[in-house]
Amino acid sequence: MAEVFVNGQYLDADKAQVSVFDRGFLLGDGVYEVIPAYQGKLFRLGGHLTRLKRSLAAVKMDNPYTDKEWGEVLTTLIAHNGGGNQAIYLQVTRGVAPRDHVFPEGVSASVFAMSNPLHALPEYYHRDGVKAITLSDTRWQRCDIKAISLLPNSLLKQEAKEAGADEALLIRDGYLTEGAASNAYIVMDKVIYTAPQSPKILSGITRDVVLELAAEKGLTVIESAVSETDLLAADEVWISSSTKELVPVTRVNDQVIGTGVPGPLWRQIYDLYQQVKLQETSS
Ligand SMILES: Cc1ncc(COP(=O)(O)O)c(C=O)c1O
Repeated sequence: MAEVFVNGQYLDADKAQVSVFDRGFLLGDGVYEVIPAYQGKLFRLGGHLTRLKRSLAAVKMDNPYTDKEWGEVLTTLIAHNGGGNQAIYLQVTRGVAPRDHVFPEGVSASVFAMSNPLHALPEYYHRDGVKAITLSDTRWQRCDIKAISLLPNSLLKQEAKEAGADEALLIRDGYLTEGAASNAYIVMDKVIYTAPQSPKILSGITRDVVLELAAEKGLTVIESAVSETDLLAADEVWISSSTKELVPVTRVNDQVIGTGVPGPLWRQIYDLYQQVKLQETSS
């Protein structure tokens, strides 16, 4: 039985409970993080906790734990669930209170964390690349907050799935923002383009790593959103997230990207990513 963490207690998943009056349940009033762990060790925990603090501050909630306490809770949860490669999901909601849009006073946050095995991706992801479709970015104006209210993302991802695609690439005012659950990049003439940090995207921790590695390799990165036309004409398209790492996209709207196979720059950064992740999580 998997063990989860709820409000200070480690419990069997089937014994864990939250109130039906939790504002996360009633209003989607909370924020979350997803943090990968390799060899039982959290990867880029500092970056994730910094983003968690930003999300909490943006929704006017206090951080229930210090970074040290978060580190202890999450490391314990991973160990209790057998170590190895896992993905932590944690969420902090504004707590339990009578339903009202206005924030309750004197209520403490509800904290929930679980850890699930991080399974290998399907083979075709890296061998052939994945398919994406472009969709209008119907989300709100604060995509920089990692909010648990994911209905727009969920609708977009479902639409992609029903179209036989693995991801939806989102277009706002004619420009690519990101994926429904990933950051997005294109390569054109050996230059990497990705949307800049702004309220239009969630600034990914994987994106930070990708940009660090590109800089180390002396590759040019331009943090500027590209038009849908440039996206379709790109030599390479990639998406990134903590659980999927860096994935090549080789079809967009049934149009072949570049040569139709994962490109050389993707391969370079992907290989470096594997090295960094192992280096940083080996004891
Ligand atoms: C909308 C969105 N953008 C970007 C990302 C990538 O963030 P990270 O690399 O921190 O997982 C995610 C991850 O789930 C996401 O949902």
